[in-house]
Amino acid sequence: MGSIVLFGPPGAGKGTQAQRIMEHSGLPQVSTGDMLRAAVKAGSKVGVEAKRYMDEGALVPDSVILALIKERMLEPDASGGVMFDGFPRTIPQAESLSELAEISHVLAIDVPDERIVERICGRVACGNCGAVYHDSFNPVPSSGCTCGKYDEKRRADDNETTVRKRLEAYHQQTAPLAAWYTARGLFHSVDGDRDIPAITADLLALLE
Ligand code: AP5
Repeated sequence: MGSIVLFGPPGAGKGTQAQRIMEHSGLPQVSTGDMLRAAVKAGSKVGVEAKRYMDEGALVPDSVILALIKERMLEPDASGGVMFDGFPRTIPQAESLSELAEISHVLAIDVPDERIVERICGRVACGNCGAVYHDSFNPVPSSGCTCGKYDEKRRADDNETTVRKRLEAYHQQTAPLAAWYTARGLFHSVDGDRDIPAITADLLALLE
């Protein structure tokens, strides 16, 4: 198996499923969103530039994203393939990726827009271990986060106004990748409007 792309609108559950698939495939998760948030937190030049776009719900320029990915793919754990989460998001990103890694599967999580807003506006994460929960659909266990040190964090861009802009960017710039990857025989889609384990089961079946 080569590298995998997890594809879908914001809040579809890419990060949630990446964590679960990682336990089976062993492929490391490469999330451009997480990399950008780390750069923003560190106050680096990339972070300062990216923050303007992220706060607006717009895509960060391809040149910035591709520089991050090229550097990440040089790390030793990427040599056996990775699981991309939130990348590629434009046709130029996909074209560059085809020169950097062999993609064996593009797995799309299909969720209607009206579900996205409720998923994103209820998202909460543990700042200590990064586990992602939802106020209603996937609550923090009553015994606390599995890491034992729950530190509640909410993302600055997880509000209804920004979510609607992120969805617009998705439909205009990212959704066309479905046809691009279908033409290359790599695209598979699962119904993401179901509970989390049912989606994981379908994704794992596609990888077998
Ligand atoms: P990024 O961090 O990638 O955000 P996103 O694509 O908007 O996706 P999310 O992380 O919000 O959602 P997810 O699909 O991982 O869902 P999750 O599993 O958390 O990007 C942020 C920004 O960075 C972008 O707007 C852009 O500016 C920039 N950026 C990043 N990559 C870029 C790129 N390649 N090019 C240009 N710009 C880039 O789940 C969401 C919630 O739903 C959680 O609370 C979860 O518990 C819950 N949930 C999950 N599954 C289910 C289910 N089946 N049923 C009910 N609830 C569920």
